[in-house]
Amino acid sequence: MAERPVAIPAPVAEHRLADYRPPAFLVDTVDLIFDLDPKATRVRATLALRRNPAHGDAAAPLVLDGEDLTLNAVAVDGVALDAAAYRLGEHGLVIADLPDACTLDTDVTIDPAGNTQLSGLYVSGGDFFTQCEAEGFRRITFFPDRPDVMARFSATLVADEARYPVLLSNGNPVDRGAMPDGQAWVKWVDPHPKPSYLFALVAGMLVSVHDEFITASGRTVALGIYVRQGDEDKVDHAMVCLKRSMRWDEEVFGLEYDLDIFNIAAVGDFNAGAMENKGLNIFNTALVLARPDTATDADYLRIDRVIAHEYFHNWTGDRVTCRDWFQLSLKEGLTVFRDQEYGADTTDASLSRIEDVLRLRGFQFREDGGPLAHPVRPPAYRKIDNFYTATVYEKGAEVVRMIRTIIGADAFRRGMDIYFATNDNTAATIEDFVGAMHEASGYDFTQFMRWYDQAGTPAVSFAGAYDAEARRYTLTLRQATAPTPGQAEKAPFVIPVALGLIGPDGQDLAGTIDGETVAGTRVVLLTEAAQSFVFTDVAAAPVPSLFRNFSAPIRLSGYDRAQLAMMAAHDSDGFNRWEAGHEYAVQVLLEAIAAHQRGAGFTLDDGLRDARAAALDQAAAAPALAARLLGLPGASTLADRMAVVDPDAIHAVLTAARRAIGGALQARFQAIYGQTAYDGAFAVDPASVGRRALRNACLAYIMAGDEAAGIALAQAQIAADTTMTESLTALALLVDTTSPARDEALAAFHARFQGDALVIDKFFAIQAMSSAPDTLARIEALTRHPDFDIRNPNRYRSLVLAFGYRNALWFHDASGAGYDFVARMTLAADQVNRSVAARGMEVFADWKRYDPARQDKMRAALDRIIAANDLSPNTREMAERVRH
Ligand code: PHE
Ligand code: ZN
Repeated sequence: MAERPVAIPAPVAEHRLADYRPPAFLVDTVDLIFDLDPKATRVRATLALRRNPAHGDAAAPLVLDGEDLTLNAVAVDGVALDAAAYRLGEHGLVIADLPDACTLDTDVTIDPAGNTQLSGLYVSGGDFFTQCEAEGFRRITFFPDRPDVMARFSATLVADEARYPVLLSNGNPVDRGAMPDGQAWVKWVDPHPKPSYLFALVAGMLVSVHDEFITASGRTVALGIYVRQGDEDKVDHAMVCLKRSMRWDEEVFGLEYDLDIFNIAAVGDFNAGAMENKGLNIFNTALVLARPDTATDADYLRIDRVIAHEYFHNWTGDRVTCRDWFQLSLKEGLTVFRDQEYGADTTDASLSRIEDVLRLRGFQFREDGGPLAHPVRPPAYRKIDNFYTATVYEKGAEVVRMIRTIIGADAFRRGMDIYFATNDNTAATIEDFVGAMHEASGYDFTQFMRWYDQAGTPAVSFAGAYDAEARRYTLTLRQATAPTPGQAEKAPFVIPVALGLIGPDGQDLAGTIDGETVAGTRVVLLTEAAQSFVFTDVAAAPVPSLFRNFSAPIRLSGYDRAQLAMMAAHDSDGFNRWEAGHEYAVQVLLEAIAAHQRGAGFTLDDGLRDARAAALDQAAAAPALAARLLGLPGASTLADRMAVVDPDAIHAVLTAARRAIGGALQARFQAIYGQTAYDGAFAVDPASVGRRALRNACLAYIMAGDEAAGIALAQAQIAADTTMTESLTALALLVDTTSPARDEALAAFHARFQGDALVIDKFFAIQAMSSAPDTLARIEALTRHPDFDIRNPNRYRSLVLAFGYRNALWFHDASGAGYDFVARMTLAADQVNRSVAARGMEVFADWKRYDPARQDKMRAALDRIIAANDLSPNTREMAERVRH
């Protein structure tokens, strides 16, 4: 090896999609040996390297990523390298003049106990866990840590047998043994090539629950869920969800699990929700553990979705992965689409769609309308951790859904088969996915690709004209998308519009377009800035029911109240029935907010009240839907529709509306509350979940209309101690008051659940979200609560992010104290965990939409963060983008 100096490439400040270049070296196999020790774990890695002809430069050096590693030794083909033969920098290791194929051995030491970033190998509760997506593997060993390097992995875990009896990694255990000094080892081999971000290791004193799954082709898969001792009675639900997901993917996509073992391990310290490591998913405990007395129905549903999501990644993510991180939505958008479909198929399809759309609007529309807006495939990033966003995930799922809507379900399914057949065991691009859909359907996706490359939510408006004599209805649709950072001009999108024409009797009317007569829902494509669609043979003047089942992620405007009331009562599409009632409520409440700002009092709109009364009529037949229809649009939905957001007026009007409805229909709420009492059996079926949701909705209105009655019922509901779903809602309602019942109930709740971290998270979160007047002082006090720990992401989120995201009233307090709180907590958290801290910047993203006084205070908070000279690059990127 020639001893000439090798330049260390400077760390790239900004990564660009346009700069993609295939790796210089490929790795065929990697064999790892871990000597696990909390303070000093030794990692020995053997890489079988091969030059990649696709790279283009046959003399390129080997560049290995590495971060926070202590290098002990490095050897090529068994010959130790002296320090002159490589360059070691803060970001990795560079070795030049390597042969076209060779074996590289490295030996490093890392400090898992000191790893508060929770990226790489770390210790939680004394046990070892890994998190490697996106760039955590480089914190374990030197490696070309990029997803287009796919290798076959083995991992030998060596640890003290008494303290770490469970030793898990990807694939199958092939050998094990004991050593004289009390150490034991297990060797795992994963037969499937995978990128480094899918590597996982778990070691500790864990208990496990086992089951099995027989695949469609008759293979038996051993299933295991690993949790801490004492939690084993909270995993039944997760196991049911896992088996249901495995079956669903076989039935709907023909995808079978491909290993003999599938394990899930739960960890209490985790930066995200869960992670799809091959054959060894690692989950935040919050998304595994559930028992009726500790988890709400919403938790049960979320667990179901996330178990499904991570399982589905086995094909969309693991078998076919991403070429580079710009393609993140290739796996995430597609897998969210799949978990949404699973949710729709296994629960109530319309309700499930409503919840998904509320989530999209609440997070993604907000993101897309502000300084953090970016395309589903971002063209550049500084820290990839900052791009696990609602746009990449939720909008990405909508884009996949639109593809299916445009080409039809059969062609879509064929396209999925082609996608797997063509890209199996490779690192693919969004073009590969869309290309498979083109091959299956013949549809030309050229214009459609703008959904991946242009940010922003299109605004769609409509106008209709009916010619009675000609029996002709002309529908004109217009689209426009506002500029987003870096994209001043927007070209028109291809927007699939699923629509029906509703006649005066509320029934769907037939109409003919393009020679085809359809009476129900059809799909037309809006491809121009403005376009007219002419329907003939239309018997009467229709109301167009547009974007049924939310067929595109757009904002629609143009309905008047009479049309909305008619659609809410009659639309044949379940989603649009809800949507019409929701939009009606938004319009009425926005008007009430404007009146409030003029100093006028609140008067309850009859339609708003009658719609709630009509929902109560459905209480017995469809309790879950009734509960959903009883609700009012949230503060963030109203904020989203105001030119200048006025959080005080929004709160005042929402409170007044709840009070007025609660007063007007008090007796009915009380009656249904009485009829929906605990019926003895806990179940998570739609009827039981619906009953609890309805009961809680009634309790909230009872409280709003008659506080004394509400407090008494809430106290009794807590005392009955039926389910967390009922206890937590009752507690949250008490926490919104200043009654002495509040502190009594909080103290009792804390005492009852002390030691159950996930329930204590709820204890923090409901206080962080309280509308009570002393909330700011109380959250300050909570930061000094013995149970508050800034190093635990769940606890941090349950206080700081619950406050920033879900307490518009006090976060935006005119004093600026709410902004100051989040800024201070962000700076403290940034010292510990930069990926969690960076997230907090999102709560400032819409700062320019507030009045000048609040803008000044938010800008000052951001400037204070940016001025911190030891700020992490993650938080800096987010704060600077928001501040811009
Ligand atoms: N890939 C994970 C998922 O969506 C999310 C994740 C990203 C988890 C980064 C941890 C770290 O399923
Ligand atoms: Zn995912």
